Amino acid sequence: MIQMLIHLLFVTFVTAAQFCIFDTENPTTCSFRDITDSTHLFRILSNNPVTSNIKKIYFQRTTLTHLPKELTIAYTALDELDASYVYLWRFTNIDFAQTTKFKKLNMSHNQIHRVSSFASNGMINLENLDLSHNMIQSIDNDGIVYNENLKYLNLSDNRIGKLDRNFFKNIRSVKILNLSNNKISSLSCETCDFEMSFEEFYLQNNQLISFNPDFIKSTFIFDVSNNAITGEIDFSNSKLIELNIRGNALQYLTINDDLEMLDASDNTERSFDISFGNNKKLISLALANLDIVHYENIFAGLHQFEKLLNLDLSENNLEFFDLKAHNLPQSLQTFNLRRTDLHSLLNWKSLYSILPNLKEINIVDNYFSCSELPSILESLQEFNVNISGLSAANDKNKFVQQNCAADSHRKRNHSKGACVQKSSNNTILWILLIICLSGYFIGAVIYANKVYNFIEKFKSINVPSMTVSPNNQSRNLIEEQDEV
Ligand SMILES: *[C@@H]1O[C@H](CO)[C@@H](O)[C@H](O)[C@H]1NC(C)=O
Ligand SMILES: *[C@@H]1O[C@H](CO)[C@@H](O)[C@H](O)[C@H]1NC(C)=O
Ligand SMILES: *[C@@H]1O[C@H](CO)[C@@H](O)[C@H](O)[C@H]1NC(C)=O
Ligand SMILES: *[C@@H]1O[C@H](CO)[C@@H](O)[C@H](O)[C@H]1NC(C)=O
Ligand SMILES: *[C@@H]1O[C@H](CO)[C@@H](O)[C@H](O)[C@H]1NC(C)=O
Repeated sequence: MIQMLIHLLFVTFVTAAQFCIFDTENPTTCSFRDITDSTHLFRILSNNPVTSNIKKIYFQRTTLTHLPKELTIAYTALDELDASYVYLWRFTNIDFAQTTKFKKLNMSHNQIHRVSSFASNGMINLENLDLSHNMIQSIDNDGIVYNENLKYLNLSDNRIGKLDRNFFKNIRSVKILNLSNNKISSLSCETCDFEMSFEEFYLQNNQLISFNPDFIKSTFIFDVSNNAITGEIDFSNSKLIELNIRGNALQYLTINDDLEMLDASDNTERSFDISFGNNKKLISLALANLDIVHYENIFAGLHQFEKLLNLDLSENNLEFFDLKAHNLPQSLQTFNLRRTDLHSLLNWKSLYSILPNLKEINIVDNYFSCSELPSILESLQEFNVNISGLSAANDKNKFVQQNCAADSHRKRNHSKGACVQKSSNNTILWILLIICLSGYFIGAVIYANKVYNFIEKFKSINVPSMTVSPNNQSRNLIEEQDEV
């Protein structure tokens, strides 16, 4: 009797539970909803008829510890599984033993700690594996098995410190590799008797202290920003098009001739220097916040970039910048000189002949003398340049005040930072005085005109009526008197 009852309860529970619910828009996709744990999913799947038309499954409001292998037994044609945000903590070969079909597997935003042996074993068609936003500390030896179809691998936002010696060998087919936001301190590959083939390689926010350019021989986009790389790196034999190496402690950087975008900002080594080689293709160059002692070497190379559109030199301590001597490329469209401790912008009067394509220049938060700044601003306005960030561009005096007031909050201290505002104050006073005087004058003219008009009106309307009416009245009176 009790057994019957349990059986009945079990059957009602299972039949009450929903199978995979079809998407109305996409009939080959379905989703499981409100699954409470892996056993719950297993029970549903055990009752599930074998289905061969579903290609993609995803989950909603679901909690799982692992994916039961019955999933791939029940859905025989599945090629995409989105198991993100389901609290998974396991990823082993047991779960996927039955499938060879998966092309895309998304297990991001889970709690996977470890990728165990042969996790992707059997998934010979897998192209895209997303394991980002987990708690992965290690990927076991052969944790990810070599598969020539794997092109996208996302392992970002994990806790990976050390990569297994076979890791790179096993993922040698990958084109886009994302290892950003981990704790990787060294990249090495003893077992690599082949050339790495990453086209895009993201390694930002790790703890690398050195980097071997052999890893990026086929790479076009490389982001290694916010690591701790010191010393010299020579990229001259690379194929890079975009390089982001900001936020390291480099001493010497050599770039390749094909590079179009370079961000080398925030490298705070004082002796940092860059060799641009014969590069003529740079479009965007960011050299913000560098603690370089001699900028001359860097500036000397700038003119060779015939296609340069954006130059960012903000947050440096340049003191002065000579537009003519520094030989900037004519192509330049945006130029950032914000917070560069500038006291003087030499040859700014020739700005437009030097940089005829300039659309935006940022000179906010510098140390211009209060006599120089207003004339620079005036000149920039005349050329219709977008002086972005100069909120007080039309109010010179206010801007100068802001500029001088900002001195106390500045990063670096300067002896020559003091600002005298007399000249511009006087100008404003004179302008105010002239406005006031002309106001009085105009007011007076208007007032006089009104008085004149009033008198004229008074003469032409009121005076005749006063003379006529008594005459009429008296005439009437006379007539009445006559009648009487
Ligand atoms: C995986 O899922 C997450 C969250 O749902 C999403 O942001 C990410 O783009 C997906 N990854 C891929 C490769 O589609
Ligand atoms: C992981 O990287 C892939 C491809 O590089 C991308 O499509 C996916 O959106 C990334 N995942 C997340 C969670 O952003
Ligand atoms: C790398 O992965 C992170 C998510 O973890 C994502 O935000 C970023 O866009 C990815 N980069 C690329 C190029 O896919
Ligand atoms: C000037 O530059 C700022 C900042 O880049 C931008 O937001 C603004 O739209 C630009 N104004 C014009 C008129 O181009
Ligand atoms: C700037 O100088 C003042 C006084 O001379 C000092 O108190 C302050 O710490 C200095 N600021 C920095 C960032 O060095």
